[in-house]
Amino acid sequence: SINTDYFFDEAAYNTHDGGYVPLAEPKTPQQPLRIPPLLKPDKETATDTYYTVEAQAGETQLLPGKKTKTWGYNGSLLGQTVVFPKGKTMHIDLKNSLPELTTFHWHGLNVPGPYTDGGCHAPVYPGKTRHIDFKVDQPAATLWLHAHPCPSTAEQVWHGLAGLALVTDEEEAKLPFPRNYGVDDIPLVLQDRRFHEDNQWDYEADYDPDGVQGPTPMINGTINPYFDVSTQRIRLRILDGANRREWRLHFSDDLPFTQIASDGGILPSPVKFTHLMLTCAERAEIIVDFGDVTPGQTVTLYSDDVPIVRFRVHDFAADDVTLPSHLVDIPDPSVTPDMPVRKVVMSGMDEAVMMDGKKFEMQRIDARQKVGNVELWDVTNTNDMEGGMVHPFHMHGTQFLVISRNGHAPYANEHGFKDTVGVNPGETVRLKVWFDKPGVFMYHCHIIEHEDGGMMAQIEAFDPDHPQTYKLMDMDTL
Ligand code: C2O
Ligand code: CU
Ligand code: CU
Repeated sequence: SINTDYFFDEAAYNTHDGGYVPLAEPKTPQQPLRIPPLLKPDKETATDTYYTVEAQAGETQLLPGKKTKTWGYNGSLLGQTVVFPKGKTMHIDLKNSLPELTTFHWHGLNVPGPYTDGGCHAPVYPGKTRHIDFKVDQPAATLWLHAHPCPSTAEQVWHGLAGLALVTDEEEAKLPFPRNYGVDDIPLVLQDRRFHEDNQWDYEADYDPDGVQGPTPMINGTINPYFDVSTQRIRLRILDGANRREWRLHFSDDLPFTQIASDGGILPSPVKFTHLMLTCAERAEIIVDFGDVTPGQTVTLYSDDVPIVRFRVHDFAADDVTLPSHLVDIPDPSVTPDMPVRKVVMSGMDEAVMMDGKKFEMQRIDARQKVGNVELWDVTNTNDMEGGMVHPFHMHGTQFLVISRNGHAPYANEHGFKDTVGVNPGETVRLKVWFDKPGVFMYHCHIIEHEDGGMMAQIEAFDPDHPQTYKLMDMDTL
């Protein structure tokens, strides 16, 4: 069967926001989709890989005429794609060449907090470098890197500090998925921007406490992109990298596609769709089969009714591989006995956003969970449908399982590991959460202005046999 709806509550779509900025099709010429290059290791052995990731300011030719002032990692805009092979140890120099403090957060990566994880307690000051080491310890997945200094995460991401990180493993390598990066395995970072005078971005002018938006779709840092398809099947690794925007994706002629992975890795079974909605920070890997498309035709990817990428289909060799109906086993550990269900509440809109009735404080640890314990979390969005919104709930330090939505089964593509889940107004989403690594980890709404506005809290995952103390940053010491 093919899923043909977006699942989320229509009344809560961002299109109903007072401040909604509709996307508009760019009038500038089409350009080839930029493919972020793979980051070259500084050094590599059979067991270890060494990288340098540098945050830097630059200029990017986005539109005809003046270049746009942008920020990026190892480039002027967005990032180079970092590959993390499972089982190997990574050694990364995080270099800040920006004029202000930043942090390097590996969204979805299973590493200790709060310093390796790179949230707000791991600042790198201008001109300085921080070094992290970790062993890659999770299944193949599409993760991402973004800046996370509190409370200017949103502004730094808007400037361009977002890139991809791909975990690879042997299990994924055995599945019949396209994986020729840049040819049939294509990242799609979905963002939106507004261009002001001289093609510049102006975060302050566009500021909205419910999330900054712009009318121009920007895909991998390309305005009005096309991609030349040369294979029958392509795999798209889609990231909602926008500060606020939801993407409601569908192809021309409702061409069906198959989702094979979500935030934390491969789904237990492939799921067919014609329509797919992503909330901020969510990822979906999909396979699109152009077998029924005549070479020479163009298949367009839309969000709502606006074209965002054009796939120009060229001649291709036949590839009628069918996916197995079972892809991977997802572990489902049983809940640790006698643990109460944890309650988390996302409330408010605009400046009034809160987590559990409080605003985020860097030095306050809001909850503790023992490493290895498996606990149920009930995450509630108390907005009402009238004027409320979907809040994408994200946790650092874990990939969780979605158990239910208001007591009902989760959506068809929520049966794999996730680190971000959209919660509808009036809904309680039950999660199964465990931490493998100790640390202080943040959890928050991933509408980035809501996170910066205080809809965020932090939990210590602790190991009673190895108690630790953490140096937590304070807004005043920044
Ligand atoms: Cu994508 Cu706290 O982050
Ligand atoms: Cu994160
Ligand atoms: Cu929110």
